[in-house]
Amino acid sequence: MPALDVDALLRDLTDQEKASLVLGGDFWHTAAVPRLGLPAIMVADGPHGLRMQPAESDHAGIGGSLPATCFPPAAGLASSWDPELVAEVGHALAHEAREQGVSVVLGPGVNIKRSPLCGRNFEYFSEDPHLAGELALAMVRAVQEGGVGTSLKHYAANNQEDDRVRVSAEVDERTLREIYLPAFERVVTAAQPWTVMCSYNRVNGVHASQHPWLLTEVLRGEWGFEGLVVSDWGAVHDRVAALAAGLDLEMPPQHGHSDTAVLEALASGALPREVLDRGVRRVLELVARAQPTLDEHGSDASEPQAVDRHHALARRAAAAAAVLLKNDGDLLPLEPAAGTTLAVVGAFATDPRYQGAGSSQVAPTRVDTLLDELVALVPEGVEVRHAAGFRLDDEQPDTALVQEAVALARDADTVVLSLGLPAAAESEGFDRTHLDLPPAQLALLEAVAAVHDRVVVLLSNGSVVRLSTWEHLAGAVLECWLGGQASGGGAADLLLGRATPGGKLAETVPLRLEDNPSYLSFPGDSQRVVYGEGVFVGYRGYDHRDQEVSHPFGFGLSYTTFALGRPAVEVTGSVAGGDLAVEVAVEVTNTGSRPGAEVVQLYVEDVEASVARPDRELRAFARVHLGPGESATARLRLDARAFSFWSEVLGRWAVEAGEFVLRVGTSSRDLPHAETLHLDAPSVAPPLTGWSSLHEWLADERGRALLEEVTASAPGGGGILTDAQMVTVIGSMPLETLAGFGQGGLDHATLVTMLERL
Ligand code: BGC
Repeated sequence: MPALDVDALLRDLTDQEKASLVLGGDFWHTAAVPRLGLPAIMVADGPHGLRMQPAESDHAGIGGSLPATCFPPAAGLASSWDPELVAEVGHALAHEAREQGVSVVLGPGVNIKRSPLCGRNFEYFSEDPHLAGELALAMVRAVQEGGVGTSLKHYAANNQEDDRVRVSAEVDERTLREIYLPAFERVVTAAQPWTVMCSYNRVNGVHASQHPWLLTEVLRGEWGFEGLVVSDWGAVHDRVAALAAGLDLEMPPQHGHSDTAVLEALASGALPREVLDRGVRRVLELVARAQPTLDEHGSDASEPQAVDRHHALARRAAAAAAVLLKNDGDLLPLEPAAGTTLAVVGAFATDPRYQGAGSSQVAPTRVDTLLDELVALVPEGVEVRHAAGFRLDDEQPDTALVQEAVALARDADTVVLSLGLPAAAESEGFDRTHLDLPPAQLALLEAVAAVHDRVVVLLSNGSVVRLSTWEHLAGAVLECWLGGQASGGGAADLLLGRATPGGKLAETVPLRLEDNPSYLSFPGDSQRVVYGEGVFVGYRGYDHRDQEVSHPFGFGLSYTTFALGRPAVEVTGSVAGGDLAVEVAVEVTNTGSRPGAEVVQLYVEDVEASVARPDRELRAFARVHLGPGESATARLRLDARAFSFWSEVLGRWAVEAGEFVLRVGTSSRDLPHAETLHLDAPSVAPPLTGWSSLHEWLADERGRALLEEVTASAPGGGGILTDAQMVTVIGSMPLETLAGFGQGGLDHATLVTMLERL
């Protein structure tokens, strides 16, 4: 097919054809214009596998789709803290997309886990924007290197499923800028995703699909986005307003409704022609971008070995996604001796929960079970026996099943208990209401732990579950998240020591739901949710309130041990020069006897700030893989943004001069190394006015001098500044108000003179 000439097409298209192009052709395709040789391209959900629907179409994961490799969803992938692994998954996805003729994969989702209850948390990476941004970046780059586009979603502030289409996220700009937007910003500025998908919800009252500030001012104006903005499926309410705001493609199309509205608005002049042409141009450019792969489609299709290769990758990813939360007395890895029995208890061991429900649901090419994989891997002479222990469709304990499991456990050397959230507990479309495992599973754990002291709990869940009520009953806990189609193999590799756990929590496990910073205002009511905790999301909130947690953000054990050397910090450039670069080099040594990986984490603390800042924030990390006894140097880089906050007063990022502490360690609460850094930076204080407070005047060198000068000449001498207690009491009052009192040497006339002299 000859390359598309976008300009010529724009010239030749009729208004009707243009109106049709800013809507999809059907559920999964852009519109074609055969008259001008313009083909349609196909999009499909992802991104932990493809959901390519050849026939019946829906956006809820109900209809069937072609088989594709189901990799661990984002919650699991994120726990690897491994951009290289995420990139490998991205390359595999692109390969499968090309095979199936899909031009754009609808993902990744980079929404922040504001609450552990969000039903879609399994599709999102983290409670931390830096981690989410880096991993999504790796995914987007890799998929697009494969000639397939991505759709960075759901832009923006879509952090719950309850009432997701109508709810307005009421969130201040600083919180948006520091928490909810940076992952989008990182991917857009560094990788130019082919498309960005707007979210369903409203942001501060305006639907994201019709939000000019989000879709145009910030996304394009500030971040330089060059691709196409597509709606989430059904997110458009006013097609003309959406076009004007910067929403290019509406999916799925509301044929006869949206195109009519566009044509009418064009005719009446309510919709400027340039605005329609802008949207059409972006659709044409997207098709042109996809064209080379479209032309290739079918030529390298269905490489049979890819299915095996991708399954092996999915297995490696499943193992990398798991986080070892507890391992008393090195219970893991298991080293079962011939003649012993390994009891595998739990319905998930034969009926695994490996992905979430909804639009991302993949029809896997095959599915491993834990039981089969353990049977295949244990040394000869070891018997592996299974009891279900509970039913997946019943939350209440089944006495007979519990008794059977207890009897099996009694005779076994070790019990592996496969617990987790049943599919009905979490999904796209609704939020959870609590963090607990079903009573049937807790009863089983108690009964088994009463007769055995070697109990390993393996968890399958898409978002955190509460551990604090039962963790003491288990010797080891391995959080496997939703591990994808090879979750059984990945878990078996870890249990038997063929792989070493290296995953780290990408979200805090709180002691109880009530401790979560969003608890008081999630999921909101009356179509409104107030993000009252501001920037104190996830560990930022737990740390600031000094709350104990079950397991902190960034935490995860290994079968080996590591030592971190003292960080060496090198600073070049400056904040004022716009070229500040801080490099932190940390030597990591594997001090144990097995190969394994450690994640060096660097958090920045602003010691004194004029706004309430989190105690520390993750700003860089590096994953280091080492053999026993090996050392390597992790290099972590920071720029000025790592020290900044979003100043609402200045309307920009700001670094405040002063001390910063760089904390280095292996979780947000295990940061043994601290290096203090002094940064010079231009003042970020706004210019002094009559409305500035006494404290603000005193904090400013020239302001203080002026005040001292005028108040010194007050009758009695010294005026308002001589009494320190008085200054404390009145310090937050604007000078204008104090001048109104006409006391202590300060009145309106003096203030006017002072302002003139400033
Ligand atoms: C989801 C999107 C998805 C789309 C298409 C929507 O319901 O929110 O994430 O890409 O459907 O299936």
